[in-house]
Amino acid sequence: MPDEKDIELKSPAIVENHHSDFLPGRSDHLAILFRAVECARNGIVITDPSRADNPIIYANPAFSQLTGYATEQIIGRNCRFLQRDDREQVAVKEIREAINKEMPITTILKNYKRNGALFWNELTISPVRDDHGRVINFVGVQNDVTARIDSERRVQEFYSVISHELRTPLSSIHGALTAIEDGTAGRVNAQVMRLIKIAVDNSTRLMRLINDILDWKKLEAGKFKLSLANFDPGNTVDSVINELQAMAETKGVQLVSRIMPHHEVFADQDRIIQVLSNLTANAIKFSPPNSRVIITLEAPARDTIRFSVSDNGPGIPSEQMDKLFVRFQQLDSSDTRKKGGSGLGLAISKAIVELHGGNIGVSSVVGEGSSFWFEIFS
Ligand SMILES: Cc1cc2nc3c(=O)[nH]c(=O)nc-3n(C[C@H](O)[C@H](O)[C@H](O)COP(=O)(O)O)c2cc1C
Repeated sequence: MPDEKDIELKSPAIVENHHSDFLPGRSDHLAILFRAVECARNGIVITDPSRADNPIIYANPAFSQLTGYATEQIIGRNCRFLQRDDREQVAVKEIREAINKEMPITTILKNYKRNGALFWNELTISPVRDDHGRVINFVGVQNDVTARIDSERRVQEFYSVISHELRTPLSSIHGALTAIEDGTAGRVNAQVMRLIKIAVDNSTRLMRLINDILDWKKLEAGKFKLSLANFDPGNTVDSVINELQAMAETKGVQLVSRIMPHHEVFADQDRIIQVLSNLTANAIKFSPPNSRVIITLEAPARDTIRFSVSDNGPGIPSEQMDKLFVRFQQLDSSDTRKKGGSGLGLAISKAIVELHGGNIGVSSVVGEGSSFWFEIFS
């Protein structure tokens, strides 16, 4: 083990710790700290800003392992020796500013190993202050996050394929099929029409699935933006009924709206339609033939609008309720599997309602039916 003096810790304050029995002056304690830093799996370097160009005065073995440089090739150099000709990276600028302002920073930047291999360095730099608050060193902790960044990039590419290579052609297939179904493309015989309807149904399901996946991605990335405006929520109920009428008829389910006195709401109309449509489509899917799905709109308080969708489906056992709004969770009875769906619909609905500052929930009685509701405030 190198002599402790080699690491030139300028002040015992570096080991000051208010929450343990460590005493700054005790050399056995200092030795424990030193050993811990030497054994750490993260790269750790200490620099000396009082010397020209803030050189490294200590680097632990993990830093050598990470970068491929031996200690003697590291000590005395500024850490920028890990960079190449992409020094215009935003992260480098941020680091420079943080160091000038003596502020801590955590960032990710491109660095290069001794053998030239690129790695993504998740770097945290903290100023080390003496008892008077003066910055006497900087400590940097390096973490190789290349595997994580690569997999994030692959996921990104996957979403871009879904969006461009799958959704775009599918919407044109769907558009063409719908034109045949509604007669705009000319008359077809009954047998062809039967096949067209199957194709339209399935392309609609596929479109919904793809849109759900892309919506979820946006929600997760915090890139899901609402377009807020005042509108009459009664229209929302009407458009959902129009949209799902055919599906309900196919299943022999009657859609009923109960529109109570209400007021305008300030929200994203398309997204509220999406939530209500999702709840209503689920209710239709789980309803027995010849039953009713009731969509209610009411204003339980002057600033609250409440939508609810009730069905006479099988109901949801209470122990499965908390799974409902979690992504990729479909309840595990074989009956629910048959109904299809991305497993994202309710999770997306919850996220959309919560983005509006609202609440969503369900009450259900097994054997009688369920009522899904959501409230938004204005
Ligand atoms: C303690 C400490 C650790 C650092 N670790 C790294 C590092 O691992 N990789 C890197 O590219 N830069 C690292 N830097 C940043 C560079 O040394 C330098 O501050 C940065 O390139 C911005 O300044 P410049 O424009 O003068 O190069 C570290 C800086 C300090 C103070």
